[in-house]
Amino acid sequence: KKSINIGMLGLGTVGSGVATILRENEKELTQRLGVSVRLSKVLVRDLDKQRNTTIDASLMTTNMADIIEDPSVDLIVEVMGGMEEARDAIEQALLSKKPVITANKDVMALHGHALLRLAEENKCDLYYEASVAGGIPIIRTLEDGLASDRISGIMGIVNGTTNYILTKMKEENWTYEEALTKAQELGFAEADPTSDVEGLDAARKMAILASLAFSMEVHLQDVAVNGMTNITSKDLELAEQFGYSVKMIGFAERDEEGVDVSVEPVFLASSHPLASVRNEYNAVYVYGDAVGETMFYGPGAGSMPTATSVVSDILAACRNLLLGVSGLRSHNPMNERCIKSEEE
Ligand code: NAP
Ligand code: HSE
Repeated sequence: KKSINIGMLGLGTVGSGVATILRENEKELTQRLGVSVRLSKVLVRDLDKQRNTTIDASLMTTNMADIIEDPSVDLIVEVMGGMEEARDAIEQALLSKKPVITANKDVMALHGHALLRLAEENKCDLYYEASVAGGIPIIRTLEDGLASDRISGIMGIVNGTTNYILTKMKEENWTYEEALTKAQELGFAEADPTSDVEGLDAARKMAILASLAFSMEVHLQDVAVNGMTNITSKDLELAEQFGYSVKMIGFAERDEEGVDVSVEPVFLASSHPLASVRNEYNAVYVYGDAVGETMFYGPGAGSMPTATSVVSDILAACRNLLLGVSGLRSHNPMNERCIKSEEE
């Protein structure tokens, strides 16, 4: 095989970043894989939309089947967002034996366990690094880097939009509305930002992280959620006077009695490492019995950081395609695949 053809569903904030990285890092990606990777078809909703991308208009289509059913398309990247249509697309792709990369935490938090089982049944990869904490490779870290440890707790700032709003309200006296509008303009917020500010986006990400960390199926309905829409500039000022910062924090804890997962705005001591995480940046603080305290930090939203995770997943899936294997990492229920050859 001389090149791997990618069918990408969506060309918005994340999709256009993926296209940019594939183009700008073409040489490095080809060197790392030994073959080239190219976008062969791209799904959009509106063919006439003005786009800030160099993608050839002839690659764009509004017909999903045109991509998923095309035998020349080797791999599907789902960056269209939404729920049912995106889930159907992932399912169809896996049933057609095409590996899937997704950035969609809505789908992964609700249907991830079933989709990963479907991927395994079809000996196909389903990678979703970009679904949690944008550019931070936290899923790989829990699957691989910390796989030897027993994780007892996670504390995370896993929503860039709310962290951006709280930062701008506190440091630049912006109103909540001004900060939210800017977060939307910068492409951090979800299509419906209610899921950001009401804590649902962070809850979805915490359900995914807790499933990985504790090797169990943690469902969205298991996560207790409180939004940040009632926080005022006065709250932020008062917190600062007493040595605290207000942060939207996701908690996932395990003890003898079970597992607790929640998302809520909290007063965090200003000396805590998470208190210094500003703007759209995310950080995930992981406690392992053996390793102790670790923290992973980086941009949690936005076009290029998120696309970095998507393209790294593309590389992993391409390597497996070239080797004729599927699944690489971990032995836990969120991703309980092991290397399987196609002959099996
Ligand atoms: P976006 O900017 O709204 O882009 C969505 C893209 O998908 C657009 O190109 C749109 O087409 C296309 N699309 C949507 N529904 C479609 C449909 N039914 N048929 C055909 N095309 C359709 O969204 P985004 O911010 O890139 O987010 C994409 C996914 O990544 C979401 O799951 C999001 O949660 C996740 N994510 C986003 C970020 C971030 O920072 N933005 C970070 C991590 C993960 P048109 O261009 O024609 O409208
Ligand atoms: N809306 C999400 C956020 C995008 O603000 O964190 C990244 O998942």
